[in-house]
Amino acid sequence: MPQDTDQGPDREMFELAVAAMDKAYAPYSNFQVGAVVRSASGALYAGCNVENAAYPQGCCAEASAISAMVAAGERRITEVAVIGRGEHLVTPCGGCRQRIREFADDATPIHVCGPEGPRRSLTLGELLPLSFGPGHLDTTTKE
Ligand code: THU
Repeated sequence: MPQDTDQGPDREMFELAVAAMDKAYAPYSNFQVGAVVRSASGALYAGCNVENAAYPQGCCAEASAISAMVAAGERRITEVAVIGRGEHLVTPCGGCRQRIREFADDATPIHVCGPEGPRRSLTLGELLPLSFGPGHLDTTTKE
């Protein structure tokens, strides 16, 4: 059974995402993003985008949140929240979809939020169909 992905983040997750967004260092794009991942233990890890004068060295919010989770010793993402301002849905960029994929699966909900609250929930499988993941590297089980 797929999870009920229409259900947005809980209040704690949403508020952590807002707080991370508000702390984002984005002087070049002026576009602050916050992200929160929930791990298998239920713990929440927040991150924000951190830009750099050498533009390509900037880091996405999702990447920061995932780093915090891994640094805490966790390896499984069960839920993601991303938040940004503006009228458009701030879905994870292509690279971050793949970063999330490393630690999540097709059914993992990704809650896209705006400052006013949750806007839409999608699954990773919807955002990154037919994805490549760690299992693809295991060629010993077949042939
Ligand atoms: N950004 C994120 O942090 N996450 C995304 O998924 C989309 C884009 C950041 C990168 C850059 O600092 C700013 O938003 C504008 O692209």
